[in-house]
Amino acid sequence: MKVPEEERSESAKQGARQGESLHEVLLRAAQHYRNQLKDAPQAIAYLKKRGLSGEIAKRFGIGYVPEEWQNLAAAFTDYDGPMLATAGLVKQKEDGKRYDVFRNRIMFPIVDVRGNVIGFGGRVLGEGEPKYLNSPETPVFEKGRELYGLYQARRAIRDAGRVLVVEGYMDVVALAQAGVEYAVATLGTATTPVHVQKLLRQADEIVYCFDGDSAGRRAAWRALENSLAHLADGKQIRFLFLPEGEDPDTYVRKHGQASFEALVGRAVPLSRFLLDELAGRVDLAAAEGRARLVHEAKPLLKQIPANALRLQLVRELAEKSRLSPEEVAQLCELGSTAAARTQAAPARVARKPITSLEDRILHLLVSSPELVHTLSADQQALLDTPEMAPVMELIETIRESGASSTSALFEAARDSQNARLYEEVAANSLADAADEATAREILGDVLLKLESQRVESELKQLYASNALNETERRRIQELSKRQAELKGAPRAGARPGA
Ligand code: GTP
Ligand code: MN
Repeated sequence: MKVPEEERSESAKQGARQGESLHEVLLRAAQHYRNQLKDAPQAIAYLKKRGLSGEIAKRFGIGYVPEEWQNLAAAFTDYDGPMLATAGLVKQKEDGKRYDVFRNRIMFPIVDVRGNVIGFGGRVLGEGEPKYLNSPETPVFEKGRELYGLYQARRAIRDAGRVLVVEGYMDVVALAQAGVEYAVATLGTATTPVHVQKLLRQADEIVYCFDGDSAGRRAAWRALENSLAHLADGKQIRFLFLPEGEDPDTYVRKHGQASFEALVGRAVPLSRFLLDELAGRVDLAAAEGRARLVHEAKPLLKQIPANALRLQLVRELAEKSRLSPEEVAQLCELGSTAAARTQAAPARVARKPITSLEDRILHLLVSSPELVHTLSADQQALLDTPEMAPVMELIETIRESGASSTSALFEAARDSQNARLYEEVAANSLADAADEATAREILGDVLLKLESQRVESELKQLYASNALNETERRRIQELSKRQAELKGAPRAGARPGA
């Protein structure tokens, strides 16, 4: 879209008269990009293909800039003046000729907490390099301080008491589209202490969401390091690692809001991530390894304010390193008053019995990994849901590694985010491992029970809606039939000792 000549020069003159601020320049550019989206069918098609509605595009002020060298000249008569360069929107060639920084891109305005446009992220349409281009740092834009989407997310963050930190612009927008409105993204940088401080002012809980690959874990570790200093009691920081190959955008589009939020609910607490990561770096079976554990923990613990969480960490480190909490606190130079008090009460957490179906399945598979090879396709399909992600991961680990004993399995699962969960489940077993045939029967029972629960809850949902269509009525019939079958199914009750 071209701004009419008179209108343009009028607003430009006005801008010049009032000494237009950087914020105003950037806002005008954002409006220009947004206007051009309306006349760019290929850009609209791209956003639609990525699942975005017009409403969400509007909410985030998403725009488009076509492939032109001086596109912004249509919106700024003072294209050659200093403001556009200061705003990071144009660059200058050696011969003095200027050109736009952003060309042929979907434009995401970056907005500060007061609602001022302070910069842009631009994504190339389809393929091309670089995929994302961010505004350079300017007097109003400092990447390590700003978070994409925070302005739009503020209310949802308050309501949820939680903020989700993701890696990409598209992740924030896709999550909002799916109804997860409390997500923000860093701007191509690591999470900084300033980010953490800013976020903990808005919510008591931060959940960092990363890809499940090694780059994701490295980024998560950096986020952890930058969060330690702000860990106050009453604040929670957790880490969510997505399945390999997924980002929040692809995950939420495939599985939906409820499923994504179930994952958020299971995110790993910072303390567990920290301890698992450190323990994974050393050999806890050797005295040297246990000593190194404390050595590696020291710079991290020192950053955490003296509080209950630090005490908990000291205790857990003490258990792992076979020292007393007091000794750990001393070695880490933590100042011993608070730590000394913990010594009186030895850390004996009551083991919780295995209750949930998920834990029972995990326990059976951890005790007898070979059971995996007896699962039918239907049984496995039953487990292929987000709530059962740790079970599925376990099944895959067993398949890939060929582990046939518990210890081989622990070895194979060492790098898994669920490694500790598997160990806990194994440690919390109520009975000794059953022989293979019995374990197989029990697993069959548990899976039938799981299916019954699913059938029941879906039926309940269907009955709760007052206007059923034909498909739903048929589904009810189907489910009721299955429910009857399940009730009549022979229980494996004849197993020895049961
Ligand atoms: P889509 O392909 O659009 O789904 O993007 P993505 O968010 O999945 O991409 P990716 O995981 O590659 O990037 C995450 C974030 O890193 C982006 O939102 C950008 O902030 C940043 N980023 C990605 N690629 C580039 C790049 O080529 N240059 C710069 N400066 N930043 C990038
Ligand atoms: Mn993506």
